[in-house]
Amino acid sequence: MSGVTENDALHAAPKTFYLETFGCQMNVHDSEKVVGTLLHEGYRQVETVEQADLILYNTCSIRDKAEQKVFHRLADFKKLQSQGKKFGVLGCVAQQEGEKIFERAPHVSLVCGSASYRNLPQMLVQLEGASANASLVSEAIDVRDSHPAKIAQGGAAAFVEDSPAHPAGENAGVRDDASIAISPGNARDSVLAARNSGLVRITGLDDRETDKCFETEFTARSNPHRGYITIIEGCDKFCSYCVVPFTRGKERSRTSESVLAEARQMADLGYTEIQLLGQNVNSYKDPAGKRSFAELLAAVGEIPGIRRVRFTTSHPRDFGRDIVQVIDAVPALCDHVHLPVQSGSDRVLHAMRRLYDREQYLERIAWIKSSKREISITSDIIVGFPGETEEDFAQTLSLLDEVGYDGVFSFKYSPRPNTPALALEDAIPDQEKARRLEGLMARQKEIQTPRYKKYIGAIMEVLVEGRNESRGQWIGRTSHNKTLNFTAPKQATTSVGSYVQVMVTGSFPNSLLGEIMV
Ligand code: 5AD
Ligand code: SF4
Repeated sequence: MSGVTENDALHAAPKTFYLETFGCQMNVHDSEKVVGTLLHEGYRQVETVEQADLILYNTCSIRDKAEQKVFHRLADFKKLQSQGKKFGVLGCVAQQEGEKIFERAPHVSLVCGSASYRNLPQMLVQLEGASANASLVSEAIDVRDSHPAKIAQGGAAAFVEDSPAHPAGENAGVRDDASIAISPGNARDSVLAARNSGLVRITGLDDRETDKCFETEFTARSNPHRGYITIIEGCDKFCSYCVVPFTRGKERSRTSESVLAEARQMADLGYTEIQLLGQNVNSYKDPAGKRSFAELLAAVGEIPGIRRVRFTTSHPRDFGRDIVQVIDAVPALCDHVHLPVQSGSDRVLHAMRRLYDREQYLERIAWIKSSKREISITSDIIVGFPGETEEDFAQTLSLLDEVGYDGVFSFKYSPRPNTPALALEDAIPDQEKARRLEGLMARQKEIQTPRYKKYIGAIMEVLVEGRNESRGQWIGRTSHNKTLNFTAPKQATTSVGSYVQVMVTGSFPNSLLGEIMV
């Protein structure tokens, strides 16, 4: 038996944490849940790496550049390890790179993918306990199991096969005689403590087969007026360029009842805007079979106190007409659809395995445009996909003209690990990708400028999101999801979180300018 008790281990625990988030809204919201979980576990969030005992990065691996950011950060702060600080990598890079992260950045102690966040409390206990006891283990121990098991005293590496009698996740933080915790979760979770080196290595790497969602009552939302709710996690689409199905696992929806309960709770707390999130939000399937995605939108929009409902991101293949009909019918649903097209060329769409062609995409756009309301449409586009010819690219440009987007997020194709597109030939040189990206952005700017200008003279309702003191302006957002910066005389009772009417007086390619109506 060790002379160190669990209490001692917890006593010596790191209790402050710093968390930096990279990537999409899903990650931002995951971080809100991670923060809530850590606060509940007795940690305190701090603003700088220097103040923190535990430094966490919630990472993105959608493109190589995003992935490299975390390794730069880890290198920048490596020297702080000598002060006893612990480092953790969460999110998509964690899931994708797994234990390889320990090789590349040996000062990292925790590697945890998003599908394992529900196990974070146990992992934190392990991190604290195992680090306090690392020197008690005589050899490296690597336990991969989902259920209680005993590590042989003396520490020969143990590997316990998963057993149907002990389903994954049942055994929160069970400890062996030497106070080394056995990881919860499924077969890829592990705890590894190496003697004398002081290294503690904890992984939470549930594979893509997990059917669990990360539902927690401890979400620490960073904005008191508008908040995210994840309704569906993971992705089953497997577009040929994309890592998400590998990093976020298979598609799994929450019940509409649990989504609605969370939305009602938020409304009670004073939230007025809710954004429903999912990698493919409109692939939502209520496991209880009660509501379709469109019906869930309507139900959230009808909650008393909820004035705005947004949803992102929609996949064109699953975008039904019923979504447009429900936007027409329920005033709280915002006038905005983000519908990534990725390319305007059928040949490229096919190679991307996007499951629709240009005509089908444009059919959905026609449905949206036939709405009684003017619905703003935005998109994502990838340029320089392997084999994309000048003609393919020209078709993407012509699609921009045809749709008339109010905003486009455009990216150079970035080859990603595991993805089928890696096997494709005819890579486009980076310089050419950059040229196409510039051309695309220039064309979109030409399209957007008049689209924003036409609002001059209109009166629009905005949710006030902030204040820019140096410019003497309030920052507002329209239902269309456009930024509308406006001035207000002192007597106007403007405050962050309120809804006000603003007269548009000027426009830029990406924002509007206005004056409050008093
Ligand atoms: N390279 C470039 N862009 C990508 N995206 C996804 N994977 C890649 C990749 N490998 C873009 C898509 C997606 C957005 C979130 O990121 O446009 O819609
Ligand atoms: Fe990636 Fe395609 Fe899934 Fe979107 S739909 S997350 S682009 S695989």
